[in-house]
Amino acid sequence: LCKGFHTLLMVIFFFFFNKFYAPWCGHCKKLEPIWNEVGLEMKSIGSPVKVGKMDATSYSSIASEFGVRGYPTIKLLKGDLAYNYRGPRTKDDIIEFAHRVSGALIRPLPSQQMFEHVQKRHHVFFVYIGGESPLKEKYIDAASELIVYTYFFSASEEVVPEYVKLKEMPAVLVFKDDTYFVYDEYEDGDLSSWINRERFQSYLTMDGFLLYELGDTGKLVAIAVIDEKNTSFLASNVIQFMALDRLDMDLQFGHMDGNDYINTLLMDDLTIPTVVVLNTSNQQYFLLDRQIKNAEDMVQFINNILDGTVEAQGGDSILQRLKRIVFDAKSTIVSIFKSSPLMGCFLFGLPLGVISIMCYGIYTADTDGGYIEERYEVSKSEIESQEQIEESKEQQGPSSGGSLVPTVQEPKDVLEKKKD
Ligand SMILES: *[C@@H]1O[C@H](CO)[C@@H](O)[C@H](O)[C@H]1NC(C)=O
Ligand SMILES: *[C@@H]1O[C@H](CO)[C@@H](O)[C@H](O)[C@H]1NC(C)=O
Repeated sequence: LCKGFHTLLMVIFFFFFNKFYAPWCGHCKKLEPIWNEVGLEMKSIGSPVKVGKMDATSYSSIASEFGVRGYPTIKLLKGDLAYNYRGPRTKDDIIEFAHRVSGALIRPLPSQQMFEHVQKRHHVFFVYIGGESPLKEKYIDAASELIVYTYFFSASEEVVPEYVKLKEMPAVLVFKDDTYFVYDEYEDGDLSSWINRERFQSYLTMDGFLLYELGDTGKLVAIAVIDEKNTSFLASNVIQFMALDRLDMDLQFGHMDGNDYINTLLMDDLTIPTVVVLNTSNQQYFLLDRQIKNAEDMVQFINNILDGTVEAQGGDSILQRLKRIVFDAKSTIVSIFKSSPLMGCFLFGLPLGVISIMCYGIYTADTDGGYIEERYEVSKSEIESQEQIEESKEQQGPSSGGSLVPTVQEPKDVLEKKKD
C-alpha cells in the first residue's frame, strides 16, 4: 500500500473478526454500503481519489503505522500526509471531504464572480489577501493541517466585496454569519488556533461529531436541547441566542435534537427542553437553574456563568473519570443485550454460570462435600444401606452417646477430598 504510492487514495480501516462477531463493529457494517457508493461515485466522476478498504486485523502493522485506534477509521492519503475524516458518515459528507482535501490547498479566486460563487456555496471560508509574505507561509502551514475541516482561498484586494475594509495588507479573513472577521496577529494568537476557533458558524445544529470537534477549541458551547417535534422552545429563546453573537469570542451557540447524546455525555438525565452550557476546555457544564423566558434572561444566565455564580458540574477529576468508566461499562452491557440478546446471555451468562458453579462447589466442599463425593463412589446397591447409616447418624446426632461417630468420620472425608 505505502511503497511507490503516488496517487491519492482514500482508505477505510475495517475491523472484522468474522461475520459472527460483526456486531462488535456495528459502525463498520453500517458504513459498508455507504462506502461502496462513495467508491462508485468517485470512479464515475473520474476523481483522482481511489477508494479502498482494508481489514485492520489482517494488516495490523499498516493500521498501527497509520495510528488507527478506532474502527471504522477513514483516512485520505495525500503525498506523505494522512488526513483523518471525522465528520458525519454520509455519502455526501465523505465525498465533499475527499474533494476538499484532494484538491489544491489554497484555491485562488481570480474574479468577483468566483468570490460570489464561493460565498453562496460555503457557510464558512478563509481568504488570504496580499502577495508573498511570512503571513502567507503561516497560512499555508495552517491550511495543510486544517483543510480537513474548512476551505482556504487566496485573492487580491479587488476581488473581495466593497464592504470589506482592510486596514493593512496582507490579511487573513474569515467569511461567515453574513459578515467577515480579520485575523489580528497580536490579539488572536497563532493563526492555526484562530482558524480552529473561527471555523464554525456562530449558530449550529449540534451533533456528536460537532461537539467532538468543538472539543479542540476550548470554547464555551451553549446548547438548547429540544424535542425535534416541538421547536416552540427554540422559537421563543434560542434563535435569539444569535443576537448574543460575539458577546464573547469563545461562545458557540446551537441546538440539539433529543437528549440521548447529551445524557450520555453528561451522565445525567435531562428533561427537555433545556439549555446546557459546556466548557470544552475542562469538561464542566452548567445547567439552567430556572425558566428562561426571553433573550435577556439568556444573556443573564451566560453572564452568571462567566462571573462564576452558576455552579459548575462534571469536569475531568478522577471521580468523574471513574464515574465515566462505570457508566460506559453499564451502557456497553446494555447495548450488547439490545443488539444481540443471545450474545449477551452467552457473554455474561457463561462467566456468571461458571462463577456460581464454583461458589456452589466451594460452599458444598466446606460443609458436606465429602459426603457427596463418597456417594458417587459407592455402587447403587450400597446407596440404600449408606443412606440408612446416615439417617441413623442424624438420629443419633443429638444424643450424647452417638456424637463420637460423625466427629471421627468427618475429618477423614475432608482428607480424602484433598487427596483428589
Ligand atoms: C412544546 O414545548 C413547550 C415548552 O417549551 C410546551 O409548553 C408545549 O406544551 C409543548 N407543545 C406540545 C405540542 O407538546
Ligand atoms: C472553562 O475552563 C477553563 C479551564 O479550566 C477555565 O479557565 C474557565 O474559567 C472555564 N470557564 C468557565 C466559564 O467556567
